[in-house]
Amino acid sequence: MGIKELELSPRLRVLAGWVCPGARVADVGTDHAYLPVWLSLHGSVASAIASDLRKGPLERARETGRTYGVENVDFRLCDGLSGISPEEADTIVIAGMGGENISAILAAAPWTADGGHTLLLQPMTRAEDLRLFLMEHGYRISREALVWDRGILYPCMQVVAGEETLTLGQLHGGAKLCHDPLGEQYIIAKIIRLQSAVAGLNRAGDEASRRKADSLREILTALLSMREEWRCANSPRN
Ligand SMILES: C[S@@+](CC[C@H](N)C(=O)[O-])C[C@H]1O[C@@H](n2cnc3c(N)ncnc32)[C@H](O)[C@@H]1O
Repeated sequence: MGIKELELSPRLRVLAGWVCPGARVADVGTDHAYLPVWLSLHGSVASAIASDLRKGPLERARETGRTYGVENVDFRLCDGLSGISPEEADTIVIAGMGGENISAILAAAPWTADGGHTLLLQPMTRAEDLRLFLMEHGYRISREALVWDRGILYPCMQVVAGEETLTLGQLHGGAKLCHDPLGEQYIIAKIIRLQSAVAGLNRAGDEASRRKADSLREILTALLSMREEWRCANSPRN
């Protein structure tokens, strides 16, 4: 029996679609190495590095390479980008981790903001922390898209070196999601979560909870007004 065709998860499919033909890719936190092996099988990259912090995932990555007979993926055991030099890759993928972990990996490799690299980032949580980090450290979100994966809506980001100022609404609701077909659902889910958190904090009634509720209300107001802006921008009259 032949081996099953390698299929990417919806998250990784979006990122794979953003990799330019002939790119030199490094996939940081690769786990099974599905993305670099898929890219290599489809002949869409000039080179691919698959790295992971832990031995178990890297062994799984090597196993995927063996299963699909891919010999040109370079497997590396290292923390973040510590074992990858700037000249080895022009496209860096960091997917399937929390926004704070992705930020920490980029903070330890400031060369990723040198203008010679495109980053494809996909935070599983705390996307707002990642957007804030990018804004404060010389990066610009050039493209953003939402994707459903296993019942959860995730943002995917294409990031380059640059300057941009994001509003509070954009930090929480997305920098480039105004015309995304899933944008409305993403922003409404955030509004509902914030409303319920504010209600909980109001019930607690102590000073610290009141202060926290005030800061969440500020985000809520920013998201509600951004939702109106998106509606106007997407109205057929505009
Ligand atoms: C959930 S998997 C994501 C796999 C794949 N990138 C995806 O999106 O489907 C997260 C992987 O990131 C690895 N990881 C976490 N922190 C890391 C770091 N600082 N450097 C390299 N890999 C890391 C973990 O060991 C794990 O294998």
